[in-house]
Parts: sequence; C-alpha cells; structure tokens
Amino acid sequence: MPHAPERLSIFAACRLPDEVKADLRRECDIVFADEIAPGVPILTLLCTCTQPIVMITVQEPLDAAAIGELPASVRAIATYSVGHEHLDLEAARARGIAIFSLPDVLSEAVAEVGMFLLLGAARRATESIDLIRSRAWTGWTATQLNGVEIFRKHLGIFGMGRIGRALAARARGFEMTIHYSNRRQLAPDLEQGARFHADPRDMFGEVDALVLLAPSNDETRGFLNTERIGWLKRGAIVVNIARGNLIVDGDLIAALKSGHLFAAGLDVFAGEPNLDPRYFDLPNVFMLPHIGSSTIETRRRMAAALIDQLRTWLAGGKPSNRLV
Ligand code: DGY
Repeated sequence: MPHAPERLSIFAACRLPDEVKADLRRECDIVFADEIAPGVPILTLLCTCTQPIVMITVQEPLDAAAIGELPASVRAIATYSVGHEHLDLEAARARGIAIFSLPDVLSEAVAEVGMFLLLGAARRATESIDLIRSRAWTGWTATQLNGVEIFRKHLGIFGMGRIGRALAARARGFEMTIHYSNRRQLAPDLEQGARFHADPRDMFGEVDALVLLAPSNDETRGFLNTERIGWLKRGAIVVNIARGNLIVDGDLIAALKSGHLFAAGLDVFAGEPNLDPRYFDLPNVFMLPHIGSSTIETRRRMAAALIDQLRTWLAGGKPSNRLV
C-alpha cells in the first residue's frame, strides 16, 4: 500500500535555468552545486553530498567508478534528459540506486528542431544566413540559393519512438509520406499510416530525407557509415537529432562533399562540443549546438516530470520512467 511521500531532498549537480530552479525550490529541499561551490569538480561534491537524490544531466556522466564513489546515503539518480548513455545502469543496480530519466516531456520540442533542421538543410539556410549577414547580398535572382522542397517527399525515421512520432505528425502537415525502421512494428494507432521497414536498407532506398532518432548504444554507434549512406538516393538529406556518435563523421562529410547527399541538418555531434571541424567548411550543413529540448516550457516540464516520478517512487509506487 503506498504511504504518504516524504519531502524530496535533492542535490542538483547540474546547471539549470532560474525559472526551473524556482520551481524546484517550491517543490522540494534542493541544493544547487553551482550556488554552493561554483567551479568545484562535480565528482568531488557528489562524493560528500548528504541528499538521497542526485540530479544530473548528460554533462555530468557517472560511470561505474563514479557511481561506486557516491555516498551510501544516495538512493536515486535523476537525469534531466531523455538519453541515459552517460550513466552506468548496471553499477547503479548493483548498488541498489534507482535511476530516473525523462522519455516523455521532451518529444515536442525535439521534434520541432527536427523539422527546423530538415527545412534548414533543404532550403540552404546556412548559405542564406551567411549571404545576408555578410552584407554580400546583391538582390533577388532566379538562380540564387535554390534548394529543394520537402512537400510530398518521403521521410524515413530511424528509431520511431515518441520523438519520431511527434516528428511524423509535423511532417504530415507537409504531406510527407512517412517511413520508419524499428526493431518492432508499431501498433496501427501509433503508426498512423507510416510504412514499417524491418530492414533499414529497404527504407533508405525509398526516402528523400532520413532522420536519425535511435538511442546511442553498442548497436547504433557508427550506424551511418559510407555503406549505409550509399543505400540512400542521390540528393537525399540526413538529419540527426539523436546522438552524434550514430554517424561516422568522415563518411558523412565525404558524401556531403561529393554531392551524394544534398545536405545535412545536425543538432548533435560526436565529441561535443568539439565537433569535427570539417563541418564548419561545408555550406550544405545546417547545424545547431544541441538545442533539441531547449525551450523554457520543456525545461520546466522536465523538472515537474522528474519531481512527479520521484514522489511516486518515494510513496512506494512504480513510476514509468524508472530505468533501474
Ligand atoms: C536529452 O535529454 O537526452 C537531450 O539530448 C539532452 O541531453
């Protein structure tokens, strides 16, 4: 039988927007690392924290060794992210530490950035912005910066989870035909008419644009390489709103230079923030600094969702977003 929840006591190792900090202060007892000890390494602070719940982001990775050093009083880690590849789940399980993430509340914001990247890549946003901002624009001509449309084209989504479905809903507004490749076919109410391809190769040959949305793991790291890029039609567009390491950068760059790919829209990069510098020289790359979920509405929803889950857990319930 669930019991009355105790007040949440959290050590936030991550930097958060002021609005989110204010929300969290209202809801729980929380200490922010950047306020009590700015500049001190997070691991040092975590080793001595007294709160039972630790809040982190992808910027505060906790591998097995780091989890091993957490004080015995730590009972839960809440990551303020949908991705959780920065956490060693097995090490947490071994120590009996619960882990929570946020698969639901970021979907709409990330899907918006997916459309933004697709449109920006198709309509040559990088070159257009450069032209106007450099004050080199000499006026309209019928030959200037002709891109391609996405209207009624075929969109392939590799990894059709919640974000993929939110993206598909937006793409249908452009009358795009949606294809997807997943381990398993979705139920018809989730598919909404999207065409399932058990083998990604079958999908790649049919689409004009490919969006990567699979999680980063041993199976997907380095997924988009020269061989698979070769399965795409000449002139296709690639968008990545998942994780940078799904792409072999040298292979994508070669295909963008050769013209096999028309353009790429990238929000995530291997080795962030030190992305492959060759991207800066490619006019057909429209890129953003990992802003997929960066809206103030989403940031506030993320905090509220984590608090909900933690409360459910403390009350003896089973939050759906518990990973371990
Ligand atoms: C997420 O939530 O996983 C975002 O990509 C930020 O890491």
